[in-house]
Amino acid sequence: MSLRQRPVSAGPAAPKNAAVLAKEHVSPETSPKSANSFWILLGALGLSALLVFFSKPFFGGSINYATPYALCSSEAKVYTVDAQNSQTQCIVVAEGHIASTGSLEEIQLHWKSQVPHSELQVRYIPPGSIIVPGLSDAHGHILEYGASRELALEGTKDIKETVARVREYILAHPEIQKNMSAYVLGGGWDHTVWPTSRWPSADDLDSDPVLQGRPIILQSKDCHALWVSSKVVVSSAPFPEVVDGGLIIRDEAGHPNGMFLDNAQDLIFQPPLTDDDLSRRFSIAVQDVVAMGLTSVHDAGLNPISLEFFAKQAEQNKLPIRIYGMTYFDENVEYWGNTTKPIIDAGNGRLNARSVKIFTDGALRTSGAALYEPYADDHTTNGAMRISADVLHHWLPLFLRDGWQVNIHAIGDRANGIILDVFEACLEGVNISASRPRLEHAQIITQADRVRLGKLGVIASVQPTHAISDMWYAEDRLGPERIKNLYAFRSIIDSGARIALGSDFPVESPNPLFGFYAAITRLSADGKSPHGSEGWFPEQRLTRQEALRGMTIDPAYASFTESTLGSLEAGKRADFVILSQDIMTVAANRVLSTKVVATVIDGTPVYGRF
Ligand SMILES: *[C@@H]1O[C@H](CO)[C@@H](O)[C@H](O)[C@H]1NC(C)=O
Ligand SMILES: *[C@@H]1O[C@H](CO)[C@@H](O)[C@H](O)[C@H]1NC(C)=O
Ligand SMILES: *[C@@H]1O[C@H](CO)[C@@H](O)[C@H](O)[C@H]1NC(C)=O
Ligand SMILES: [Zn+2]
Repeated sequence: MSLRQRPVSAGPAAPKNAAVLAKEHVSPETSPKSANSFWILLGALGLSALLVFFSKPFFGGSINYATPYALCSSEAKVYTVDAQNSQTQCIVVAEGHIASTGSLEEIQLHWKSQVPHSELQVRYIPPGSIIVPGLSDAHGHILEYGASRELALEGTKDIKETVARVREYILAHPEIQKNMSAYVLGGGWDHTVWPTSRWPSADDLDSDPVLQGRPIILQSKDCHALWVSSKVVVSSAPFPEVVDGGLIIRDEAGHPNGMFLDNAQDLIFQPPLTDDDLSRRFSIAVQDVVAMGLTSVHDAGLNPISLEFFAKQAEQNKLPIRIYGMTYFDENVEYWGNTTKPIIDAGNGRLNARSVKIFTDGALRTSGAALYEPYADDHTTNGAMRISADVLHHWLPLFLRDGWQVNIHAIGDRANGIILDVFEACLEGVNISASRPRLEHAQIITQADRVRLGKLGVIASVQPTHAISDMWYAEDRLGPERIKNLYAFRSIIDSGARIALGSDFPVESPNPLFGFYAAITRLSADGKSPHGSEGWFPEQRLTRQEALRGMTIDPAYASFTESTLGSLEAGKRADFVILSQDIMTVAANRVLSTKVVATVIDGTPVYGRF
């Protein structure tokens, strides 16, 4: 998602308490290497836990997750995602960590040797089900997703139906209906599937008697356009004639008509979010994502308000999922890389925020993606860069110097090329495994640039579900040759680059099984593609193993947490998911019917049970 938030204040783009939080880090988590000290700790704790355990009869009912337990698959369907991609029978969970893995016999022997005189409670997952490491979405937008679920405009057939949905929402919310100054905020509309070729306008909103006169702001599905009512146009005026890297759509008389693209979105006044707004959106989002099997989300755009909100939640140990934060870069605020401390493992490892997110171009749908050559279906434009290479050359070395991961959004082939130029210049002499720069989206990237990507060791953070959404119209936009460079996941891996998979929710569903399915099939949910039933450019499919790694250990690496997360190995945190069927072997068309049995973080279910 590419909505650049309107700068909220002139201060540095990170909250003051980020530094406070950083000082309160919990000590570094037990890593696999320090498994021995972990066992000593467990020995001490084990006795007290044991007393609790044996003081209660255990009759196969609910498990006490605070007590050490083994969770087993009689079919050895525990996918550990270790370096060998091994499968095993059991994991032992104690104190929120994986104490050991192996066959039932092995883990019991191990248990006896470490905690003598104690029984280990053993649980089995249902036949046919599997255990995988907790799934990550390497690129999503948590609070924006929560917001989009409040007034969701996905799937509307035309402007009229979209307006009708807004009307129903207002009528269903008396506190908004009664209050003409209450903002109506929604998102998810997609003009590319509507029968009209014109942009929707403020008039479309104002012509409905229920909507008329209200402040209404509706975000597009790809987050590259805002559709607003005339009340909002008036309260956001005056506007500049031209916007660098953005566009104000105007009527025949030259007046802004309610549609603002890319950087022009920043000109729209948005109401400040209250704590209630944030909490409501957050809990909607969390409820959804844990039910889908996500244990960790990389939030690809925090502003000072959302960062402070998450930091506060972490401080109060109220983060139900893990969040890896990227803070929006804003060239108009003072450099903050050496005055703000990165957040590392706050809230017992639930929050990390040590990266900066920089936008370079817009999206393919809205002709914002910066291309080398004009769009095939619109020769008047080749997209636009939202930031100049000079600006990047100036700021990147500073963030790298001060230890920030630099994550750059690039969609078009020209944007990707320019960023790779900048990376080549700025990464010289930089320790790549310490800095782990990322290219967010890396959507259209030429063969020559893929080679550079692999050589540099830059991580490609890509979104498989975009491929199956865009495959129906993308060739019209790019033509028959350039299209081969779009979502060329296999070629990216073959170039030597690491990948991390995400969904860019709310642009797509956060459901990681959709991403997994899209990556391995390149087919729509009903098994179709423009290239037939083998998938759209089937040679670019990922293997199931690559897809699973791309949602577990790879995002862990991309967020500096691979020593504690991303695989089921002794010493790591016990984040895992039980899935109802074996997505590594079932027919691909059955992947989407897989159910999440339980989502477990630090050894305790946050969704479901076992
Ligand atoms: C109406 O909404 C505005 C904007 O959110 C708010 O400031 C105001 O307090 C609300 N008025 C009432 C009566 O709720
Ligand atoms: C932060 O970095 C900037 C740019 O290099 C420099 O001008 C400034 O003095 C630094 N501030 C601190 C507190 O180190
Ligand atoms: C590069 O960084 C990694 C990770 O921080 C570290 O282990 C390694 O020693 C560093 N290499 C050099 C040459 O400094
Ligand atoms: Zn995004």
